Order: sequence, then structure tokens, then C-alpha cells
Amino acid sequence: MKAQGSIFSPIIAGCMNWGEWGVDLSVDQVCRLIEDCLDIGVSTFDHADIYGHYTTESLFGNAIQKKTSLRGKMKLITKCGIKLVTPNRPSNKIISYDTSKEYIISSVEKSLQNLKTEYIDLLLIHRPSPLMNPQEIAEAFTELKDSGKVLSFGVSNFTITQFEVLNSFIDLITNQVEVSPLCLNPFVDGVLGQCILKKIKPMAYSVMAGGKLFSNDLDDREVRVKKVLTGLSEKYKARPDQILISWIIKHPSGIIPIVGSTKIDRIRLAVDALKITITDEEWFMIWEASEGKPVP
Ligand SMILES: NC(=O)c1ccc[n+]([C@@H]2O[C@H](COP(=O)([O-])OP(=O)(O)OC[C@H]3O[C@@H](n4cnc5c(N)ncnc54)[C@H](OP(=O)(O)O)[C@@H]3O)[C@@H](O)[C@H]2O)c1
Repeated sequence: MKAQGSIFSPIIAGCMNWGEWGVDLSVDQVCRLIEDCLDIGVSTFDHADIYGHYTTESLFGNAIQKKTSLRGKMKLITKCGIKLVTPNRPSNKIISYDTSKEYIISSVEKSLQNLKTEYIDLLLIHRPSPLMNPQEIAEAFTELKDSGKVLSFGVSNFTITQFEVLNSFIDLITNQVEVSPLCLNPFVDGVLGQCILKKIKPMAYSVMAGGKLFSNDLDDREVRVKKVLTGLSEKYKARPDQILISWIIKHPSGIIPIVGSTKIDRIRLAVDALKITITDEEWFMIWEASEGKPVP
């Protein structure tokens, strides 16, 4: 039987901005943020080997090492396959992808060391490579599963065909994709429909459009979306970012939002937003604002 998305918390904490690529938290601050997340039921943490130029997994791992009781209370997601150009990987000359068996296994070994954990709950191929060989990826996944180093597997940013090809070699439990009123693609390209078909839960990143909708520098489309979100937030006595969460989770595929905020108050608002149910018409008001025209 396939593991279901429900093994992960209904809101996932995205760790991309916890370290060098964002607010550069100290180990103690990471410990506190993890504990605060766990207190409000956010028990899944989303990483990638590359975050913070390959340093953020270590930061998080140092927090786990400091407080060893934390690991058993959480699910850890990480990703592999992107090779960044950084002083931390001097042999990488250009940005490229590597989904060879050898690379996937060595990347997981590094993630385990960095995160200071014996297993990863979910490993994702970060981006589809034109050169990926599904047979080889499946062999790597099988070896990692048999050794107990990774419990389940998925992909990120895959098209429906790319998903289908790899899934014919090995069970995948999610496709992590960008979804927001500024990124409507998964609603129309079949990716979310495929998750319904496969009875798996998609995960959505950049649901707050990376914070763009809350900046002061908005283009016409963003102004339209923000206006509708603000109007609805008054009706629901909520915040615009909470309306965004309720818009995402209304889709029948059961999307699990990954919240990228590093502030516990904002993560708590996302959890509280799970209780808000906007109407279908309100959902389409946000859609229409994004498209700049009514649906046909
Ligand atoms: N699979 C992939 O290819 C992929 C790609 C990108 C990201 N991800 C994952 O998804 C997670 C989330 O991505 P993201 O960071 O792009 O997501 P996001 O949640 O759309 O954006 C987070 C940013 O928005 C700001 N923000 C959030 N709510 C706000 C509010 N109400 N007012 C003002 N600013 C607000 C946050 O600032 P504060 O910290 O100050 O709140 C943060 O800078 C990442 O951490 C990562 O785990 C995956």
C-alpha cells in the first residue's frame, strides 16, 4: 500500500530560508523554532541538500543533535539532484542536474550526516533532469529503502509524463510543485489531477508567492489578487495570507502547503487558516483576479 500524504502534517515548515539563504538563524533559534512548530502540530520539515549553499541541513542537524528528543517527533523531507556552483562544491563548474544512482546515494549519505539523523522520511528528486534514467533512480531508491536510510520517495517540479515514467518503476508518494494565485499551472496542466488519480497528496511551495504579494512593489496582477485577498480577509476576520492557505487547500487533491515563513506567528496563522472554508465563488474571485478576466 502506498504511504499517504496524511503521514505528514497538514502544514509543512519549509526550511529554505532558515539559514544562509534567509534569516540565518542560530542553532538555538532553530531549536526554538522547531519546538514552536511541533507545539502547533507542524511536525514536517522540508529541506533540500542545496539550501544555504549546502549548509542549512547542517544547521538544522546541529539543533537536532543539541536536543535529541526532537527527531522522533518530526518527519524530515529532503531533496537531491541539483548541483550548484558554490565554493562549498568547488568541482561544480556550471549548474547541472545529476540523478545517477551513485549521485543520489552519495547525496543521501551527506544529508544523513548533515541532518544528524539515521533516516529521512521522504526523499524527492528536486527537479526533473532531461538525462534521468528511471531504472537507475529506482535502483537507488530501492537500495536506500532496503537499508532503512529513506522511508519513502517522491519528486518535485515533475510534469505528469515525467511522474508517470518514474512511477512505473517505483512508487512515488508526492509531486512537490509551486502553487499560488501567481502560479496557476498545476491546476491546468494535469499535475494535481494526476495526484487524485494516483491517490497521493501534492505538496505546494511558494504558496505566498515567496512573500511577493506582501511587498510594496506589486504589478497590476498582484494588485488585483491582493485586493481580493484583502476583501475576503475582512469577511472571514482573517489575514490575507490565511485566505491564501484556504484557497490552496480547497482543491480536491488535498494539497499540503509548505509555509516558507521563519516567523512562528505566521506559521501559526497558516495552521489556523486550515479552519477557513471559502466558497467556490470566492475561490474563483481569486482566480479571476490572477487571470485578469473571467473564466470562459
Ligand atoms: N521543491 C522546490 O523546487 C521548492 C522551491 C522553492 C521552495 N521550496 C520549499 O517551499 C518552502 C516555501 O517556499 P517559499 O519560501 O518560496 O514560500 P512562501 O511561503 O511563499 O514565501 C516565504 C517568504 O514570504 C514571506 N512571507 C510569508 N508570509 C508573509 C506575510 N504575511 N507578510 C510578509 N511576508 C511574508 C516570508 O518572510 P518571513 O520569514 O519574514 O515570514 C518569506 O520570506 C521553502 O522553504 C522550501 O522548503 C521548494
